[in-house]
Amino acid sequence: MVFSLQNQETEAVKLCNADFRQATFDAYKDFRAATAPKILARALFMATDLVYGKAPSYNKFYAIEIIARIPYQSWEMWSYIVQTLYFSQEQKTIELGELAHFSRVAQDNETMHVVVIGTILQKQHSLIRLAFPFILSFIYFQACFLLHLLSRTWAYELNFLFEEHAYRTYDAFLQRESEQLKQAPLDSAYLKWYGRDVKNQYEFVELVRNDELLHRNASVTHMKR
Ligand SMILES: [Fe+2]
Ligand SMILES: [Fe+2]
Repeated sequence: MVFSLQNQETEAVKLCNADFRQATFDAYKDFRAATAPKILARALFMATDLVYGKAPSYNKFYAIEIIARIPYQSWEMWSYIVQTLYFSQEQKTIELGELAHFSRVAQDNETMHVVVIGTILQKQHSLIRLAFPFILSFIYFQACFLLHLLSRTWAYELNFLFEEHAYRTYDAFLQRESEQLKQAPLDSAYLKWYGRDVKNQYEFVELVRNDELLHRNASVTHMKR
């Protein structure tokens, strides 16, 4: 799939169908990451579990979404820097442009997630919980950029693991909180501006979960380029 805002929205809605979602998940169910990205991913999951607990919650999602933007930011920057070296090679600049475009669309999507979750949470943040994702994001940005320089495959594998973990966490939240979320209204000007229309928080979280599955699979697609 060519990653665009329009495709992201169409596919996220299609993934509400359980059979289609399972088939989309199964497309990469046998994918195995290398040891290095596995260790980095495990460290990230342990750090977030330590601060927010193992159970899914909006507080935890807020942190996950701030961190989730980081690889896309670093890849976009990387693409523009490296394009400077290839101005005379059109095919290479197209490949780099495609990575920058995917990174921008995914970044905007993750930004929408974090802004709307921030709206749902309103003033329920504590200082440590607010500071944690920003400190971790600062370190994670350097790690993502370096990892991309060392091994693009490892960088995409780490993102695959992160997005799969986010997908599973949102899915567990939907199963546990289904009834409450269906009763919970959601009024977000940012969500409307982004172009997404939902009736309640259940529909919002359902589409966020689906977005993470699209990001997970797109990480593999870009690894193969
Ligand atoms: Fe997200
Ligand atoms: Fe994501």
